[in-house]
Amino acid sequence: MTDALVTRELCKVYQEGSIQVTAVQPCSVKLSAGEVIGLFGPSGSGKTTLLSILGCILRPTSGELSVFGQEVSQLNENQLPEIRRKYISFIFQAFNLFPALTAFENILLGLRIKGVVGSEAEDRTAKMLQEVGLGHRMHFLPRDMSGGQKQRVAVARALAADCPIILADEPTGNLDISNGRKVMELLKELASEKQCCVVVATHDNRIEDIFDRIVYMEDGFIRRIKRSNA
Ligand SMILES: Nc1ncnc2c1ncn2[C@@H]1O[C@H](COP(=O)(O)OP(=O)(O)OP(=O)(O)O)[C@@H](O)[C@H]1O
Ligand SMILES: [Mg+2]
Repeated sequence: MTDALVTRELCKVYQEGSIQVTAVQPCSVKLSAGEVIGLFGPSGSGKTTLLSILGCILRPTSGELSVFGQEVSQLNENQLPEIRRKYISFIFQAFNLFPALTAFENILLGLRIKGVVGSEAEDRTAKMLQEVGLGHRMHFLPRDMSGGQKQRVAVARALAADCPIILADEPTGNLDISNGRKVMELLKELASEKQCCVVVATHDNRIEDIFDRIVYMEDGFIRRIKRSNA
């Protein structure tokens, strides 16, 4: 299996005035292409922090990270956007939709950033919105959609980009069980079809069975890694 993300002694310490918080204790993991990984742990255990570092949004304090074999921990602020553009789609806990753009336009903009434009971008956008069950809400603004609908727009935006790594922070947090499973099944399908590496930070025990591997975090430590159905 191809290694999508490899960390070596990766660690993150936040400094808030005189207080230091070690959000991620040194961790070394290998996440493969085609694998769907669940990142579980109580609130404050470091899931979002670890996911943000894997997504090259946040820099580690120490340690190394490689993305499809390319070492990125030493890259500067000008080089990281290119890695993100090429390899990574991120689904944020807070959706991060542009309030003045419709669902359709939000996804189009996301695609433009990835270099996909014109009718291909429009076709992909429409297809993804259909897939997440929002064909009837394509031209709605975020303020006119429910929390779960906005979450599905954020998911559709990430999937439309067709990146080999998808990182999702609580993507089912606002969804009922049926829509939550649909979103996860879509992610799973994509992982196997396109050999994507999907990492999902979640509290949602209802979707545990979907994952190939589950990583449990506590106080910044990876406490255990369990292969699903093993
Ligand atoms: N920007 C920051 N500055 C200082 N400390 C931070 C910052 N972001 C997070 N932390 C701290 O790091 C720890 C891990 O936070 P993180 O957001 O990664 O947890 P989480 O597992 O995602 O929690 P949740 O399930 O509530 O989303 C927490 O103790 C938090 O207070
Ligand atoms: Mg979080």
